[in-house]
Amino acid sequence: MIIAIDGPAGAGKSTISQRLAERLGFTRLDTGALYRAVALAEMRKGNAADAPDVGPWNLEVEGDRLTLDGEDISQAIRAPEISSAASDFAKNPAVRAGLLALQRRLGRARDTILDGRDIGTVVFPDADVKIYLTAQPEARAHRRWLELEARGHAQPFRIVLAEIMARDKQDMGRAIAPLRRAEDAVEVDASELGIEEAVEACLAVVRQARG
Ligand code: C5P
Repeated sequence: MIIAIDGPAGAGKSTISQRLAERLGFTRLDTGALYRAVALAEMRKGNAADAPDVGPWNLEVEGDRLTLDGEDISQAIRAPEISSAASDFAKNPAVRAGLLALQRRLGRARDTILDGRDIGTVVFPDADVKIYLTAQPEARAHRRWLELEARGHAQPFRIVLAEIMARDKQDMGRAIAPLRRAEDAVEVDASELGIEEAVEACLAVVRQARG
């Protein structure tokens, strides 16, 4: 079974997917982390975001641990500059093609919750459950601001808000696999919800889909 959770940056996709996976006994695949890893790998090689000859990438995913050529990069990919770089590299057709195959292979291996931007529209258009998780920009920026502070990457709130809005605009406006709600996705607006309430709202969608 595949559960697709898409939505803009900072809506709470990561935390909610993680909790849902624990509650349902599913594996969780953070597809944004893959785009971040690829951006990091290509930047280290000195490649620009639109370079045609990207990859191959030696990526291994084990739960929340992500390695590149054997090096644990789980923390390095969370640096703020990697967020916008990931969005830049995510426009590159060769990057998307490479990661499409990897996401499908990992998702098909077992019951999986995948969170990202194009899971319900492109990666798994036949997903059993599709959720579009969203929230007002200020609520998303606030969440991201707290997250960055907790990770030691504190930034002024207005910078975090501007970065989130610029990234959404780029992710929604790109030519290939833009961020949008799949027609058959159920929208959950988490602006006014705490994490547990948002998890419950998503669980209700899953239960309804399972019948
Ligand atoms: O979710 P996260 O903020 O980690 O994603 C980083 C970037 O990766 C996004 O801004 C987006 O450009 C890209 N991405 C994507 N498709 C996905 C997941 C992430 O294009 N399925």
